Amino acid sequence: MRVTSLLLAASLLAPAAASAETGPRWLTASAELRAAPEDPEPAGEILVASPVTVVGPERNGRVEVILTGWTDREGRALFATASPSVELARVEPGLLTLRADSEGEGWMRADLRGWLDTSMLTGDAQALWHKAFADYRAHCTRCHPRRAPEKYSVEEWAEYFRVMGPRTRLPRDEQLLIRAYLQRHASDAAELESVLPPGDVPR
Ligand code: HEC
Repeated sequence: MRVTSLLLAASLLAPAAASAETGPRWLTASAELRAAPEDPEPAGEILVASPVTVVGPERNGRVEVILTGWTDREGRALFATASPSVELARVEPGLLTLRADSEGEGWMRADLRGWLDTSMLTGDAQALWHKAFADYRAHCTRCHPRRAPEKYSVEEWAEYFRVMGPRTRLPRDEQLLIRAYLQRHASDAAELESVLPPGDVPR
């Protein structure tokens, strides 16, 4: 894997610079998350296009990542904001580390840490958003003209998508990628910019 050899080269040649290689990455497909690198069973799933930060070197073909967001009382999912609109991950209860700060209605800041297959990650968010746009253009115009993403809010896209996603008859992950793209371009996407890493909200 290219990312693997880059990480390896960085750690061999310039140990001090290795941490620079552990910057933001994006999921090219939804991927199983493990609590430890050797765990046979997943403890959750990070959804396609979610941004993660790689925190250490590769072990067993996997890297440890961290993801920060919000969770509700059930603690079974991680969201980008204190609302169910932008879903980043689904997890077994107990995998999230709750932080003290909270908002109304039981929303709490939470960190998710775990191990992912290195091959599921890209540092090139633009390539991912290009693919998302191509899917959106090809599959969301079969029945009506293209709806401009910036005409709707992040929350409205979450709502519309419940009906429109399945209408494309695409596999789930391609639907989720289109949803992420539309939400990152929504009328109020600026709010996501403060919580997601630079480069996540495409222009
Ligand atoms: C199989 C046909 C079909 C496909 C595919 C489809 N839509 Fe629709 N869409 C409709 C119909 C019909 C409506 C009118 C309202 C309704 O019946 O739900 C609609 C309404 C909408 C609306 C509501 C606002 C409006 O302008 O009326 C939005 C937004 C929308 N579609 C977006 C999308 C997106 C994004 C995709 C791709 C993920 C998509 N649609 C794919 C058939 C489709």
